[in-house]
Amino acid sequence: MAKLNINGKTRDVQVESDTPLLWVIREQVGLTGTKYGCGVAQCGACSVHINGEVMRSCSIRVSDVKPTDKIISIEGISPNSSHAIQKAWLALDVPQCGYCQSGMIMSVVALLKTRPNPTDAEIDAQITNACRCSTYHRIRQAIKVAATRISAGGGTL
Ligand code: FES
Ligand code: FES
Repeated sequence: MAKLNINGKTRDVQVESDTPLLWVIREQVGLTGTKYGCGVAQCGACSVHINGEVMRSCSIRVSDVKPTDKIISIEGISPNSSHAIQKAWLALDVPQCGYCQSGMIMSVVALLKTRPNPTDAEIDAQITNACRCSTYHRIRQAIKVAATRISAGGGTL
């Protein structure tokens, strides 16, 4: 039994203590926007925020998360997919297959909180998520569009 705070709601889940947080989010709670890619903290498809920090949920045991920790998944950043970063993603038609993009967006939210106008080098250093469709160029462009809009008051993180 574990008690988790996910997207502002308390969830009681019946799982083994070593169950990866990713599977709890997807299979116990039913939030399937968070994806399984590699399972070994490499690809970033499973990225969520825990207390504001981007983390790879495939490699966090549910027993390592406290009931007071605030977990945010892609479903939690906007009730209607209208987050400024999601809008920039749509405007630039970023996704191809889309599989990696939830994790990408969670990483970008975290990036822009610490680097409101990131350089290409900062983007490359901090957005280490993998995209098998190689949408990296559009991702970088969309990050800059989102950053410009947010700094002009067109959305919050
Ligand atoms: S599935 Fe977690 S980093 Fe790849
Ligand atoms: S859009 Fe297909 S893996 Fe990134």
